[in-house]
This record gives sequence, structure tokens and C-alpha cells, in this order.
Amino acid sequence: MSAHQFKSPVVRWIDHRLPVFSMLHHTAHDYPTPKNLNYMWNFGSLAGLSLAIMIVTGIVLAMSYTAHVDYAFDSVERIMRDVNHGWMIRYIHMNTASFFFIVIYLHMFRGLYYGSYKAPRELLWMLGVVIFLLMMATAFMGYVLPWGQMSFWGATVITNLVFGHSLCW
Ligand code: HEM
Repeated sequence: MSAHQFKSPVVRWIDHRLPVFSMLHHTAHDYPTPKNLNYMWNFGSLAGLSLAIMIVTGIVLAMSYTAHVDYAFDSVERIMRDVNHGWMIRYIHMNTASFFFIVIYLHMFRGLYYGSYKAPRELLWMLGVVIFLLMMATAFMGYVLPWGQMSFWGATVITNLVFGHSLCW
């Protein structure tokens, strides 16, 4: 990181001791960003933002959720009715889950359209596929958690894909 001569003596004084301004200048000014990038490259950061929102709201929901077949549904009802802003936290969590997938599909189609999967970045793409599979598994588990009718029949359909042929029963 080459030291930059800042105009302001205050900035220079701070930067000499704690080079935060040099670091900013390096990443936002010196660092060569390909000039063919366009707004389609925002989807990766938006996916990261979605993930952060999902983790934070998910942890807050977990504080009032009961992981038990007999109590899960009632605990979600309680989150919706009695927990302060519980309905809002749950709706943020649900809608962000959908937004996450919309953004990821745009991110992936961007990658396909611009050939981001091509050599020498095949491993990056393969890691993306692993992330995508993990996302679908996680979303399915989240859908099942409230253990309402939709969760139950969703779980029935998906487990039957694996264990559903007649010889099993
Ligand atoms: C949690 C999910 C994901 C997050 C947070 C994420 C984040 C990011 C970020 C921040 C970038 C750099 C900026 C950009 O190009 O948009 C990026 C690039 C990239 N991502 Fe993702 N990503 C995710 C999932 C995926 C998936 C599912 C795939 C493909 C199957 C993928 C493939 C790629 C590729 C190929 C690049 C390089 C693009 C280029 O420079 O041309 N990512 N990702």
C-alpha cells in the first residue's frame, strides 16, 4: 500500500499513526477495478446484505420460538400476536428470504450471461453451486419450522421425493 500525500494536515497526522485514510484511498481510488463492471455486479453485495438480515432476524425469532412438534405452531402464533414487533421481525425474515432468492437468481444469470463461470474461475462457480444447494436446504428447513399445514405438507412432499417409492412402506 503506497502512502498517499493527503492535503489536510489533520488527515496526514492521523494517517501517519493509523493509516485508515490510506486504506480507503487504496481500495476506493488506487485499486484497479475492471471498467466493464456494471450495476449487474451489485447482486453479490445484495445477496450478502440479505444473508446478514436473515441471520439477525432469525436469531431474534429464535428467542421466542419453541422447537417442539406440539409447541412450534403456538410459539409462532405468540410471536405474531404478543411478542413486541414479533410480527414485523417475522415478516422481514419471510420477505427477505424471497428477496434473497430473487437476488441470487439475478446474480447467477448475470454470471451465466457474462461468462463468469469460465476458466480460470470454475472453482468459484462450483462453490456458488454449493452455496445455492445449501440455500435451498436452509430455506426448506425454515419453511418447516412453524409446523403448520403448509410446513407439514411441504415436508411430506419433499421427503417423499427421497423415501416415497412404494417399496419403502
Ligand atoms: C450467499 C450467496 C452469495 C453471496 C453473498 C455472493 C456474493 C458475491 C459477491 C459480493 C461477489 C462480487 C460482486 C459481484 O460480482 O456481484 C460475487 C461474485 C461472484 N459470484 Fe457470488 N455470491 C453468492 C452466491 C453465488 C452463487 C449461487 C453463484 C453461482 C452459482 C455465485 C457465483 C459468483 C461468481 C462466478 C462471481 C464472480 C463474478 C465476476 O467477477 O464476474 N455466487 N458473489
